[in-house]
Amino acid sequence: MQTHKRALRRPRGQMSKINRLLPFTTAPLYHALQLMATGDAARFHMPGHKGEPVFTTYADLFAIDFTETYGTGNLYLGEGPIRDAEVAAACYFEAGDCFFLTGGSTQGVLAMLATAAGAGGSVLLDRGCHKSVCAACALLDLTPYFFSSELIEPFAVPGALDIAEAERQLIAHPEIRAVMLTSPTYYGVRRDIPAFADLCAAYGKKLLVDAAHGAHFPAVGLPTPIAEGADLAVLSIHKTLPCLGQGAVLLMGDRIDRRGLRENTALFGTSSPSYPILSSIDLARAYVEGPGHIAYLRAATACEDLRRFVDARTRFSALGTGDFPDLDPCRLTVSTAGTDMTGQALSDALWSEFGVACEMADERNAVFILTCSDSGSSLRRLRRALRKLSRRAQKGEVPHPAAPFPPAERVLSVRQAHFSHHGRVPVETAAGMVCARPVTPYPPGIPLLWPGEKITDSHIELLQERWYNKIDDIYVVITD
Ligand SMILES: Cc1ncc(COP(=O)(O)O)c(C=O)c1O
Repeated sequence: MQTHKRALRRPRGQMSKINRLLPFTTAPLYHALQLMATGDAARFHMPGHKGEPVFTTYADLFAIDFTETYGTGNLYLGEGPIRDAEVAAACYFEAGDCFFLTGGSTQGVLAMLATAAGAGGSVLLDRGCHKSVCAACALLDLTPYFFSSELIEPFAVPGALDIAEAERQLIAHPEIRAVMLTSPTYYGVRRDIPAFADLCAAYGKKLLVDAAHGAHFPAVGLPTPIAEGADLAVLSIHKTLPCLGQGAVLLMGDRIDRRGLRENTALFGTSSPSYPILSSIDLARAYVEGPGHIAYLRAATACEDLRRFVDARTRFSALGTGDFPDLDPCRLTVSTAGTDMTGQALSDALWSEFGVACEMADERNAVFILTCSDSGSSLRRLRRALRKLSRRAQKGEVPHPAAPFPPAERVLSVRQAHFSHHGRVPVETAAGMVCARPVTPYPPGIPLLWPGEKITDSHIELLQERWYNKIDDIYVVITD
């Protein structure tokens, strides 16, 4: 992919001491990142700090890179200043308690499912869940049942979840121990958590929410999942707040065995959690509880302005400007549907011609994350770029309503399939075979097919049509 020269242009006088001491080839990753960091890109992707951290310099990171020693506290023992920081975060996020995580929401998803469903249990999942949920099913030998959502046109993104279908599944499979939903989604769609909390209460199930993309909600006046009735929720602080990558929190209500949950966070985490990450979670919380609150309200206003701008002044359309209130106010999803440009082509042109990086793109959409860290000039650049690229986009065929990915028959457990003898085959030859790994276009990291599911001709057709360039082969179970 071509890169706009402005994105990598280094402002004068930015050569760091370490660059002067080490030749460029010695630490290629560090130097590549430095070049990106000192360039001039407009970043509408995670981490939420966008390179404008609450921390001041790299040197600070090394200075506070401690371990469990006198005065620093121990994460998994829940003591010392780490615990004080967790208590402050529990209060801010309106939860009964809060545990810090340094393995992202992935660690939290694993710990939540281990605690609420146990090994060998059954769970009811929203089919649009992240691939970390699939990993949890393989590791914990969980049996997943699914419920789905309708696609919102013309975006073809999953909308409201079918709660009636969820209830039918709970009746049909009384062994289900927990229900898990994703809210908000990657595209910013919020789900009706109170309705699911009532359903779970009626059937005696735990409600878990993957709110990886919703850590900024209190900053824009929205409730967190625990306040809406969930038993457990995980938030990637790093995705939308000014926090270092991998910083996340696990929130809980009152019906959870906290000790067991803490042990399960240790089960899936490193025994050397990073103190810079832990403290950046603490700083991010302190920031949004204080001055950052206003900055997020500003980001939400900027996002709303951009939505109106996209609808009024471009050939594209923005999710949420119509009659669609339940949206993350800081997430902009721009659809190219109805033009001859794909979301991916829009994303590539934004980057190569304007140095604007979105969070992700798919066939019909490009998705942008707005946070406290976006400057007025980045926002203006995004606006200008969308306008110019929209002029280039020709009116295309209005797309047919997108067909949902067809349900699949489970013939092996997720765990059996994942740990089976397996190999890779070209997509077009996979009909009749059984998936050994999730088939997951990334981003958004949502598996279309799960391990243990039988692949049919209609799956292959849709994979080739909608994700043509991204998925060439599939891992399948080899039986002989
Ligand atoms: C919905 C959802 N849940 C969980 C995760 C995992 O989060 P993390 O990258 O913080 O481990 C992601 C990552 O993109 C996600 O989109």
